[in-house]
Amino acid sequence: MRQRTLVLIKPDAVVNYHIGNIIDRYEREKFDIVAMRMLEMDDCIASKHYAEHVGKPYYQRLVDFMATDRIVALVVEGENVIERVREIHGKTDPKKAAPGTIRADFALSKTVNSVHASDSPESAEREVHVFFSETEIYQPNHDIDFSVFDGD
Ligand code: CDP
Ligand code: MG
Repeated sequence: MRQRTLVLIKPDAVVNYHIGNIIDRYEREKFDIVAMRMLEMDDCIASKHYAEHVGKPYYQRLVDFMATDRIVALVVEGENVIERVREIHGKTDPKKAAPGTIRADFALSKTVNSVHASDSPESAEREVHVFFSETEIYQPNHDIDFSVFDGD
């Protein structure tokens, strides 16, 4: 089933020059990047995006961390992408993340853990629209014949 998921590349991964490496892992799986933007997560966006975490003991630490520097928000599309991207990211706590996952490779702690991904079709639908309007999300076209533009 073709799905969309919301990915955030968190401040630690941006500051430590991992943006390209992280996006490469989705593209290697032939997942399509259909929307992308760099932004700073303020308290307002944080409380919308992390709505289910408001009031948790780690919430303020999480929000403060997410506002330390810019983040990259992406909509990633592909077959079974919600579950697959979470597998590529690894477990929340990098100490428990499988070798070769993004969090095992780059994350610094359970809070400072490099990436976010939606965990269900319902949260993907909600989270995508915290960051993007429907008109900012593109339809990938895999049927273009680029050879018609061949020139001298
Ligand atoms: O990101 P993921 O879905 O794996 O984990 P979550 O349980 O939905 O928590 C969201 C984010 O809150 C995590 O990615 C961590 O950055 C942070 N968190 C934390 O700092 N301490 C915890 N005990 C749990 C989560
Ligand atoms: Mg989560």
